[in-house]
Amino acid sequence: MAVYELAALGRHRWWWRLHRALPRHFRGIRPGRLERTHPERDSLAYGETPAISVRRLLQVSGLAPGARFIDLGSGRGLAALSAASLGYPSEGLELFPEYVERSNRVAAELKLPARFTQGDLVRDPWPEGELYYLASTAFGHQTRQLLLERFNGLPPGALVATLDWSLPLEGRVAFYLPVTWGLALCQLYATES
Ligand SMILES: C[S@@+](CC[C@H](N)C(=O)[O-])C[C@H]1O[C@@H](n2cnc3c(N)ncnc32)[C@H](O)[C@@H]1O
Repeated sequence: MAVYELAALGRHRWWWRLHRALPRHFRGIRPGRLERTHPERDSLAYGETPAISVRRLLQVSGLAPGARFIDLGSGRGLAALSAASLGYPSEGLELFPEYVERSNRVAAELKLPARFTQGDLVRDPWPEGELYYLASTAFGHQTRQLLLERFNGLPPGALVATLDWSLPLEGRVAFYLPVTWGLALCQLYATES
């Protein structure tokens, strides 16, 4: 957790509750280790998007609270749980059931409008939402092609935000966001309306 995040969000009760609940429910799970159990996959880098960056993304998106935030590859659920804490109902799709089960437990304990489902973000159906967030960046060429087709198939006007991946979609805005491994270029797109 960074000092600037503490300074910006430390006065919010939801932020403390989230940062106490996550380590408690994820005790014994080492993010980054699970991913190595699938060496054949090209997309299993681990890192997290801190709450402060989720708040910035939501502000830049212009979406009002109530809009649905979808995290494709939700990991421990930090991004989706942060969005839910800020008033944006969230859903996460995640490959590892170990994450999904615990993220759902955190959401239930904190009474947050966030839900997590086990699935493959490349092939399985995506939840419906207004903003789709993709923070996994270690995708190979073939996976990127498949994901691009999925983005193009989203309903008109849906927003897509990626980290360190430029898409051939209508670009709205690009800005840097702090993530757990440094800064990432976040790019926000709108599907054709
Ligand atoms: C870099 S982490 C990001 C976690 C979270 N979105 C955040 O920003 O805090 C990427 C997550 O995507 C998951 N993931 C990668 N490929 C996936 C796939 N094909 N289907 C579902 N989840 C996947 C990984 O297991 C990991 O938990």
